[in-house]
Amino acid sequence: MKIVNAFWGLLWFSMLFGISLSRPMIINFGDANSDTGGVLAGAGLPIGLPHGITFFHKGTGRFGDGRLILDFICEHLKLGYLSPYMESLAPNFTSGVNFAVAGGMILPPFIPFHLGAQVRQFIHFKNRSLELLSQGSGNFINEDGFRNALYMIDMGQNDILEALYASNLTYAPVAAQIPSFVADTKLAIQNLYQYGARKFWIFSTGPQGCAPKELALHAHKDTDLDSIGCYRVHNDLSKLFNKGLSRMCDELRPVLKDAVIVYVDVYKIKYDLFANPSKYGFVKPHKACCGYGGDPNNYNVKATCGQPGYNMCSNVSSAIIWDGVHYTEAANKIVASEILSMSLLKLDEFW
Ligand SMILES: *[C@@H]1O[C@H](CO)[C@@H](O)[C@H](O)[C@H]1NC(C)=O
Ligand SMILES: *[C@@H]1O[C@H](CO)[C@@H](O)[C@H](O)[C@H]1NC(C)=O
Ligand SMILES: *[C@@H]1O[C@H](CO)[C@@H](O)[C@H](O)[C@H]1NC(C)=O
Ligand SMILES: *[C@@H]1O[C@H](CO)[C@@H](O)[C@H](O)[C@H]1NC(C)=O
Repeated sequence: MKIVNAFWGLLWFSMLFGISLSRPMIINFGDANSDTGGVLAGAGLPIGLPHGITFFHKGTGRFGDGRLILDFICEHLKLGYLSPYMESLAPNFTSGVNFAVAGGMILPPFIPFHLGAQVRQFIHFKNRSLELLSQGSGNFINEDGFRNALYMIDMGQNDILEALYASNLTYAPVAAQIPSFVADTKLAIQNLYQYGARKFWIFSTGPQGCAPKELALHAHKDTDLDSIGCYRVHNDLSKLFNKGLSRMCDELRPVLKDAVIVYVDVYKIKYDLFANPSKYGFVKPHKACCGYGGDPNNYNVKATCGQPGYNMCSNVSSAIIWDGVHYTEAANKIVASEILSMSLLKLDEFW
């Protein structure tokens, strides 16, 4: 009798509480750097081979030859890769959910899937999950899962680039917009907090000025570049944004006292790949693996990776950048392992 009661108790418990109790779970917001299929599911934008060629052996909606930093973090936590929120066919939300969409920006608020919209999607997702759970249907993330999940935001890259293009690569007009990018990221954190989020990883943006696309797209003089051949204005603005982001996290910590807000500095890690390529087994750091045009950048807007005429390097693992913008799996793997080795992040103590 007691065993039967325990059985029903357990069944009731698991139905009521769903996917649960202190299991690691990731809820992610971002752009192409962490899009695991959102733009494919949401906009129907096909991203086929050669994207995915190294690991998935097919297009998955990821921009890159294989796994992203987010995928490696999931592997580290023994989680499945995150399903995009907008995946309508057999999504699997046991490891969390991904709201990231390639092209995603913090601002302006009218573009589809900007950060504010991703947060609104989350609020709907949480509401609906809890509602379905209370009706006893399916296996959804429960209140406990939402409270203990790690909320990650990796955005800003497209905001900085768009603003740079609009200003013909001048510093001041872009710098003037950066406080609004930071303010809206802060708003996203506050909103998520209000809806129960307590653990945050806020990613800094990378050195945009080192990307082959930027170097190929805009004519430049040597004085426009820094000592390792990266565009100075891009990187100065990336650093300015990161400084604001880091300070904003510092300001929020004493306000959201029961939250853990970690600023994850990926800029430094990514910049070091370009500064010391041979240390990591990379050659020609500013040359895209997949693209058109050969040296120095192998990038041409008329024949980008996957479009007619593109070529691919013989060894993807020796390239940092895949298609002119996005990182290769080899680079992402290094960045992820450096992130996971930062002792201050204490990821394994989160659950
Ligand atoms: C969902 O993902 C989890 C974790 O990877 C896995 O154990 C489970 O089998 C998956 N469920 C389905 C229905 O595929
Ligand atoms: C969430 O659900 C509650 C009741 O279940 C409802 O009152 C509220 O309006 C919902 N919020 C959103 C944003 O959908
Ligand atoms: C953009 O800047 C470059 C270099 O300073 C200059 O040559 C070019 O004329 C500018 N273009 C416009 C549209 O302002
Ligand atoms: C490809 O590059 C990686 C990284 O530099 C290196 O370890 C590997 O041996 C290379 N493979 C081939 C076939 O050259």
